[in-house]
Amino acid sequence: MLETFYGFSGNPFLVNPDPSLYFESKGHRHAHASLKYGVQQGEGFMVMTGEIGAGKTTLVRTLLRELDPNVVLAAQIVSTQLDSDDLLRAVALAFGLPVENATKASLLGTIETFLSSLVRQHRRALLIVDEAQNLGARAMEELRMLSNFQLGDHSMLQSILVGQPELRRLMGDPSMRQLRQRIIASCHLGPLDPAETRAYIEHRLHQVGWKGDPSFEPRVFEAAHLSTGGIPRRINLLCSRMLLRAYLAREHKIGLANVTEAANEVSEDIGNETPVSNVPASPSATELRTGDVVRPFIVSSITARLDRLEKNVNTVLELVRAMASSDDRTRAGGNNGNKAKRA
Ligand SMILES: Nc1ncnc2c1ncn2[C@@H]1O[C@H](COP(=O)(O)OP(=O)(O)OP(=O)(O)O)[C@@H](O)[C@H]1O
Ligand SMILES: [Mg+2]
Repeated sequence: MLETFYGFSGNPFLVNPDPSLYFESKGHRHAHASLKYGVQQGEGFMVMTGEIGAGKTTLVRTLLRELDPNVVLAAQIVSTQLDSDDLLRAVALAFGLPVENATKASLLGTIETFLSSLVRQHRRALLIVDEAQNLGARAMEELRMLSNFQLGDHSMLQSILVGQPELRRLMGDPSMRQLRQRIIASCHLGPLDPAETRAYIEHRLHQVGWKGDPSFEPRVFEAAHLSTGGIPRRINLLCSRMLLRAYLAREHKIGLANVTEAANEVSEDIGNETPVSNVPASPSATELRTGDVVRPFIVSSITARLDRLEKNVNTVLELVRAMASSDDRTRAGGNNGNKAKRA
């Protein structure tokens, strides 16, 4: 198989959010630091947003591995359109509490008793709500109420809301004012830049024992960044395909043609998610011979876009001209009419 052929200890580009393969980009470092700071505060809400596949879950799992369970007891729920009662049930379940036949009041009681017992053991609870963009307003309100539980001066529950960019819009709603005031740390995970994309790919390869086989033409990384927009999950998908194609062709060197073909395959599979306009077209023989392969693709993609823009501008110009000449005719007709009236 592929792994044996290249001497890997495993698949370097699995799409599981596996913290043992964690790569710290500038964005991940910043988000990691703000969540860590937030957890140290021991109260309130933290919010992490990021594009689909940017690495939110991986980062949270990495953070969880670093927490001392004797101090912070963490539990995670994944929100799939929970309403307020479902949310309480999910929170109780996540902390291993009984939920069968429980009413809302009894659930609240069970959760409160449990949280106060933790505080008495000098521990605290951390709730992670993944995919929090799916939470309804009532579930959010329920979360806010839970975060109000206090024993003496100690807040009993801290939460991290993790979600796609819609979460930020949801939090911006006027009904979220009270919750917003309890946010103590917030961060957004953006895409990797071109240098990070290369470092990310190499990092994941090194984790499975890569020693330069297969080798990569340097411009492969540049093209991989262009075609994936620097989003880790897309990079994984692209690199998996690239490796598979290279393995099937028994190749030990990955070139630009491999990226192009793999990018086309991925974009056929996942539709428009891959920014197809960024994917270089297949290299022509001349471009491959010159060795300067990426730039001609970028130039040709820009040229194609300019052509499209020019066509659009011409269409608009024609429309404006047509409207202007019909205006002239109307005015001419109108003037005649006025003249007739004045006469
Ligand atoms: N910092 C990172 N280090 C290593 N791998 C990463 C990193 N960020 C993301 N990945 C990889 O990218 C893929 C997507 O990551 P993850 O599931 O964490 O993204 P997400 O932002 O939670 O996505 P979604 O919006 O779909 O929930 C996974 O395969 C993960 O291993
Ligand atoms: Mg996720």
